[in-house]
Amino acid sequence: MSNNSIVQISDTHLFGDKNRKINGSNSYQNLKEVMNHLLALKRKPDLIIVSGDLSQDCTFESYQHLANLLNTSGIKYYLFPGNHDDVDVINKVFDFNWIKNRVDYSFDFNKWFINVIDTSVYPEVVGELSEDQLKNFEKSLSQNKNKPTIVFMHHHPLPVGSKWLDNYILNDAEKFNSIVKLNPQIKAVLFGHIHQVFEKNIDGKFYGSAPASCYQVLPKAEMFTIQNLNAGYRSIELDGDKFSSKVVWI
Ligand SMILES: [Fe+2]
Ligand SMILES: [Fe+2]
Repeated sequence: MSNNSIVQISDTHLFGDKNRKINGSNSYQNLKEVMNHLLALKRKPDLIIVSGDLSQDCTFESYQHLANLLNTSGIKYYLFPGNHDDVDVINKVFDFNWIKNRVDYSFDFNKWFINVIDTSVYPEVVGELSEDQLKNFEKSLSQNKNKPTIVFMHHHPLPVGSKWLDNYILNDAEKFNSIVKLNPQIKAVLFGHIHQVFEKNIDGKFYGSAPASCYQVLPKAEMFTIQNLNAGYRSIELDGDKFSSKVVWI
């Protein structure tokens, strides 16, 4: 059985101005450090997935910085929007022809099936999935039932125990979670948005976040509180149809 690795980077929050900081961290420099770290690994990841909040100011330049850093790495990558992103501007840089609030897609990764579902509702902070999106999600799962599957999304579909942050959870997450529950081939649901590490096993499925590549926030806090940590990412190993992952801090 061959091993395959994916790196999930999240919440890059880039600005057009490379020197600009967000909540004390230089988001461009942080992402550059993550990419340099990945390139220095003895075994580079086979795939990078960037799980939303790509830009903080939605400028053409901010997405160009992201494209440059990813393209020069030579590592295959996928990305999708978060609540901070403007799909119209992303389309101009990456030439995707994405439709706002409906950037749902899936692809095969060796024997695995990767399902990306767009929870963003530009320009709202909260996440939402339309009836149509849920229907299409169910359809693509049923058409790929025999493949071990990972679902990637931006918003958290489970409360993380932070009062302020759980206001920005995925709306109607129960519907999404019930679909996940009914599909035993789903091994993991991975998300970003919360700028902290969250991990939980439900019925043998792993729900987890990637920390942000920019600033981190304190878990279980009543109010927004910055945590003084470096950039991090989630490193995923697929061994046959076994999923395992861990968070790596730079
Ligand atoms: Fe974010
Ligand atoms: Fe977000």
